[in-house]
Amino acid sequence: RATVRALAAAGDPVAKVLGLRALDDPYPLYEKIRERGELSRHPLGLHLTAKHSVVSSVLRDPRFRVEPAVDHVGVDWNIHPGDETRLRHPMEHSLLTMNPPRHTALRALVAPWFTPRALRDREERIEKIVDDFLDQAVYRASFDLVGDFAVRVPTKVVCDLFGIPDDRHADFSRWGSVLAGTLDGIRTLGERHAVRKALAQMTEFFDELILLRRKNPGDDVISGLVRAELDGQPLHRDDVVALAGLLFVAGYETTVNLIGGGALNLLSDPAQKQRLLDDPSTARGVVEEVLRVEPPVQFTLRFTREPLTLCGKQLPADSPVVLLLAAANRDPEVFVDPHRFDAERPNSREHLSFSAGIHFCLGAGLARMEAEIALRRLFQRIPGLHLAGPIRYKRTRNIRGMTTMPVSARMAP
Ligand code: HEM
Repeated sequence: RATVRALAAAGDPVAKVLGLRALDDPYPLYEKIRERGELSRHPLGLHLTAKHSVVSSVLRDPRFRVEPAVDHVGVDWNIHPGDETRLRHPMEHSLLTMNPPRHTALRALVAPWFTPRALRDREERIEKIVDDFLDQAVYRASFDLVGDFAVRVPTKVVCDLFGIPDDRHADFSRWGSVLAGTLDGIRTLGERHAVRKALAQMTEFFDELILLRRKNPGDDVISGLVRAELDGQPLHRDDVVALAGLLFVAGYETTVNLIGGGALNLLSDPAQKQRLLDDPSTARGVVEEVLRVEPPVQFTLRFTREPLTLCGKQLPADSPVVLLLAAANRDPEVFVDPHRFDAERPNSREHLSFSAGIHFCLGAGLARMEAEIALRRLFQRIPGLHLAGPIRYKRTRNIRGMTTMPVSARMAP
């Protein structure tokens, strides 16, 4: 445990254990871990599992907890302790790092914006957002499918959810990529500085927005949180900022990668693309299978609350267990021919890319809807789209996705 803490101070422990090798294709590494057995122990004190049934049951098991608000990037963001405006990284002080009962109460406050009905009400707005970007793209001979499309759609969708004016969307996009880009840990002083700056600007922005919504409430998420109460008290400003920050960071980079991964698959498989053009409802199967084979979040971590036995091994209290979601999704005991992409696979949805149990992704429905609309409309509007240059992947271990995907658009007649 002490070793893990020491490692955590220098960055994400799992990223350290898995190393920075094979970032373009991490899947052979997961297979090696699978070969070591259903639960293997790393010399640094972590246990790892690639087995679907174990990952799934640990995520649902109340004898495991998440690490509460650990500064896993190992940095105190506050230059002047005691400043009224405290900086908190949304991934460190959020639902993701909270256990019941506080987790249950806070999650219930934001859940109403993500019900199937709330999502249906947003569908048309999302279609409009996607079409507005495509209106610009169809007139360009070539563009970057990640930077000019996949990044912009989720940013705008979340900004829309928050009621944020258009002229601030570019700021959000910048903050989101800085915060998500350093989730594996801060390696350089430059990165530390960039994260602190993004946090300071985002926090200041949310502070202003909270004041504005107090005076003039609307039907957006921030207005809802400002009105909300916890134990009979209005929600503390730190909690509003942390929840808003989480919704933004959690919903941004991940969805970018889902849209990018789906587009890449369709660009590389003309038959699949034709099926999508003939029958737009096939987008659903493509999205689900991209989630399975290329999960935007590759792993998560849980800790034992008490001594227990897992896969025949004794684990003392506070033992960290790395749950390799990306590897569980390719477990041959659950998925036939697991490395093959098959948009018609009957059980793709058994993937664990949105986690499971009480931390199951709140935005899963929104992400699915955004990606389906984005892929459908992209190929309907530009059926002749093709790859036009090398694709580059992010250098992060946990968040997987591309940074650039040059494409060329031959316009449909
Ligand atoms: C939690 C994945 C999109 C909001 C999670 C977790 C995963 C995940 C794996 C749980 C982590 C754990 O158990 O340790 C994804 C993926 C997405 C996506 C792959 C897109 C493809 C979104 C969107 C939003 C969102 C669009 C909202 C706008 C959240 C929130 C949590 C969460 C609030 C915390 C839930 C809790 O701890 O109770 N997501 N997510 N996510 N996600 Fe997502």
